[in-house]
Amino acid sequence: MVSKTQIVALFLCFLTSTSSVTYGQKRRPRRPCNHLVFYFHDILFKGDNYNNATAAIVGSPAWGNKTAMAQPYNFGDLVVFDDPITLDNNLHSPPVGRAQGTYLYDQRIIYGAWLGFSFLFNSTKHVGSLNFAGADPLMNKTREISVIGGTGDFFMARGIATLMTDAFEGDVYFRLRVDISLYECW
Ligand SMILES: *[C@@H]1O[C@H](CO)[C@@H](O)[C@H](O)[C@H]1NC(C)=O
Ligand SMILES: *[C@@H]1O[C@H](CO)[C@@H](O)[C@H](O)[C@H]1NC(C)=O
Ligand SMILES: *[C@@H]1O[C@H](CO)[C@@H](O)[C@H](O)[C@H]1NC(C)=O
Ligand SMILES: *[C@@H]1O[C@H](CO)[C@@H](O)[C@H](O)[C@H]1NC(C)=O
Repeated sequence: MVSKTQIVALFLCFLTSTSSVTYGQKRRPRRPCNHLVFYFHDILFKGDNYNNATAAIVGSPAWGNKTAMAQPYNFGDLVVFDDPITLDNNLHSPPVGRAQGTYLYDQRIIYGAWLGFSFLFNSTKHVGSLNFAGADPLMNKTREISVIGGTGDFFMARGIATLMTDAFEGDVYFRLRVDISLYECW
């Protein structure tokens, strides 16, 4: 027979052990279980390049429009994109997937955006998706955003993506290098 006090003791024991895992002094070692590097290429629609534009301003503030970034700091612009992903920094390399989602300029006194997008892979190497979200303070050489999940080959993946602006040509073209470190792999 298990007494009531034994059950309570067991329960308390369980509580303290889980809380020590959650709030304990020891940090789990931070070693990535997977590391990947990609580039993606964004060509913004500027009024006359519909054929190769991969991004469009879909929302702009009252003082802007959808063919040019709002001034100052692009603040208030919302952009939707469907960009090719490549393994190297060449726009014309065979794409290994698409980066699809949105960026919105949400900083008033410096260039900065908020990103929410997915990498969709359907190649011989990877099938599945990775999902990203986070703030992108554009003026910093490197920025970190969260890898908040994945599907397929990246089932339940989580980690950090380090972004670097690898090329920037006015308001028409930019290329981001994405250095992905996954800390949860299945
Ligand atoms: C877009 O296409 C035009 C015409 O083909 C070309 O001149 C331009 O360089 C292209 N832009 C980029 C970024 O490749
Ligand atoms: C959009 O705004 C830019 C300046 O911000 C201006 O040069 C351009 O003519 C505007 N385009 C339209 C279609 O209103
Ligand atoms: C992935 O690629 C295969 C082979 O090219 C194709 O049959 C399939 O429709 C693609 N799936 C998606 C979701 O694009
Ligand atoms: C961006 O850079 C500034 C100054 O270089 C630094 O103070 C800030 O912490 C950086 N922000 C991020 C998110 O790394």
